[in-house]
Amino acid sequence: MIGADRKMYPARNTVHLPLWRHRREIVSLNEADVDPRDTRAVQDLIAAAGDARKELVVYSTSVRAGGEPLGAVGFAPIEEILEMERPSDGLTRGNIVPTAADETHVNEIVRLDHVCFPWLWWNTAEEMARYVQSVDAHAWLLRPIDGNLGLDAYVAVTRSGTTGYVDRLAVAATRRSCGLGTALTIHAIDHLLRSGARRIALTTQHDNVRAQNLYSRLGFRPNGFRVTIWGHWIGQPRDRTP
Ligand SMILES: CC(C)(COP(=O)(O)OP(=O)(O)OC[C@H]1O[C@@H](n2cnc3c(N)ncnc32)[C@H](O)[C@@H]1OP(=O)(O)O)[C@@H](O)C(=O)NCCC(=O)NCCS
Repeated sequence: MIGADRKMYPARNTVHLPLWRHRREIVSLNEADVDPRDTRAVQDLIAAAGDARKELVVYSTSVRAGGEPLGAVGFAPIEEILEMERPSDGLTRGNIVPTAADETHVNEIVRLDHVCFPWLWWNTAEEMARYVQSVDAHAWLLRPIDGNLGLDAYVAVTRSGTTGYVDRLAVAATRRSCGLGTALTIHAIDHLLRSGARRIALTTQHDNVRAQNLYSRLGFRPNGFRVTIWGHWIGQPRDRTP
C-alpha cells in the first residue's frame, strides 16, 4: 500500500518546544519528543522554533561525536564544558563574611550574571528566584566594603546526597584578582563539607582558564566528564564573551 510506512509528522504549531534552563529564547532538543537522528523531525522542530521566534535550539551530549548527525541539519558545537571535582579535605577559611542571599537579591544577582557570563549562561530572574528558594540551594553575596551599592561577587551551591556542587561563581570585573573568587569558593566548599558533602564537583567552560586555575589551586581536578553543547542558531549567533 503506497505510503503505508510513511511517518506522520505533527503540524508545526503542535510541535512541543521545551525550554533550555527555563530560557524562553532557547529550545532544548534533549527534552523534545524528537529523536536527534531523525533529520526530518529535527528540521520540523527547528522550523517550529523559528515560527515561535526562538533564537537557538541546543542539544547537549556527553558522548564524543554524539551530535554528529545534527551537523547535517545546521548544528555546530557552540560550547564545551568540563567537570572538575575535589575530595572532602577541608581548607582554611578566609576572613570574608558573605551575606546569605534570598529572593530579595535576585535582580542584582541576575544583573551581575549578565555582565560576567556569556549570553548562553544567563539566568532569568524567574530561574534564579526558583533556585534560591529551593531547599537544597544556598547562595552568598559580597558587597563593596566602602558602602557603595551593588554587588562585588556571588557564589551559589547545591547538595545532592554526599555530592556538593558549586553551581555558580561570579566576581564583578572591577573587583577581580583581589582574592574574592577564591575566598567565596572556600566559603562554599566549607559550607558543603559541613552539611555532609564528601565530594565536591563543578562544571566550567573548557576554555575558562582563569576559573580552572582558581579551582585547581583549591584541589579540584578534571574528572574526565565533558559535555558538548550543539547549537542551531535561528537568530543572529550570540557572542561567547559577556
Ligand atoms: C573566575 C573568577 C570568578 C575569578 O574571580 P577572582 O576574584 O578574580 O579570583 P581571585 O582573585 O581569587 O583569583 C584570581 C587571580 O588573582 C590572584 N590573586 C588572588 N588573590 C590575590 C590578591 N590578594 N592580590 C592579588 N592577586 C590575587 C590569583 O593568583 C589569581 O591569579 P590567576 O587567575 O591569574 O591564576 C572571575 O574572573 C569571574 O567572575 N569570571 C567570570 C565568571 C566566571 O567565569 N565564573 C566562573 C564560572 S565556572
